[in-house]
Amino acid sequence: MTVVSAPGKVYLFGEHAVVYGEPAVPCAIEKRATVTVEPRDDGHVRVEANDLTLNGFAVEYADSPNDRPDVDVPKRLLDAATGYVDAAVEQAREAADAPDAGFDISVDSEIPLGAGLGSSAAVVVAGIDAATRALGEPLDRRELADRAYQAEYDVQDGQASRADTFCSTMGGAVRVEGDDCTRLATPELPFVVGFDGGAGDTGQLVAGVRSLRDRYDFAADTVEAIGDIVRQGESLLTDADPDSDPSAELIGELGELMDINHGLLSALGVSSRSLDTMVWAAREAGADGAKLTGAGGGGCIVALDATTETETSLQYTPDCEQSFRAELATDGVRLEEE
Ligand code: PMV
Repeated sequence: MTVVSAPGKVYLFGEHAVVYGEPAVPCAIEKRATVTVEPRDDGHVRVEANDLTLNGFAVEYADSPNDRPDVDVPKRLLDAATGYVDAAVEQAREAADAPDAGFDISVDSEIPLGAGLGSSAAVVVAGIDAATRALGEPLDRRELADRAYQAEYDVQDGQASRADTFCSTMGGAVRVEGDDCTRLATPELPFVVGFDGGAGDTGQLVAGVRSLRDRYDFAADTVEAIGDIVRQGESLLTDADPDSDPSAELIGELGELMDINHGLLSALGVSSRSLDTMVWAAREAGADGAKLTGAGGGGCIVALDATTETETSLQYTPDCEQSFRAELATDGVRLEEE
């Protein structure tokens, strides 16, 4: 039995613009997906999803997606568990040169699905790592990140950047610009997350921004303006001492850039009433800044606040179902048990 975990992430800056070659800075957070893998001889794959923050279920199927049983769970949940796990299995089989390998796979995730916290990337990263280790062919982190990106790319019909999968593999704060991915040394940041209980449709939201960008110059300019915000934020981060607590001035400046980034994402049509409500609740509670994280349309916001005010205020905000402090996950993918 091989057990591997990988973290989710928040976008400090840069989602959507990263799709068009601008840089982005996602940060891994201590909310993990844990994947347990046991090879099996019959070539079948059995997936059990235990704590996907929604109802658990189990399905067993052979190689072909057409062989899947007609189970009584929402398609979105079934796709989430099986689509990404299938893609991870394919990558692991290819990497280990074991095309007929079968597995019992169990997924336990603390990361809400489709809510902008990188749940699918964490499952794919942990899944490929666990499966290749179980086959005796562990990958180095660069190859793991590459293969995880390929898996997401396949499932999302090409609508994926390297941001989520690289961040989940490496941990910490990272910078992604096209194929160029690096880790950034940053101080611990006081992240607070608010979750509206919903989810956005990443493919649809990315397509919406693409269409605006094709039709209006303002949208292309907005995407570039987000790139400028990311570059400014990144230089603030790299100038700071990674081993000390961040200064109030740094948090204030990063927060201001987050507020602007949220406004630009709103202009691109990817915010929602509940995301805006949570962003304003955070700001009114004294957060240094707040923005949606991920594709938008619903899901999560991220705020910076070293005090408990934002977390408490979000708990009493009707549009917010859950709020929590999220520590930077300095470990990326991690072997838990072998
Ligand atoms: O909502 P998430 O965590 O899947 O993030 C999507 C981020 C986008 O920039 C909109 C798309 C991408 O693949 O980078």
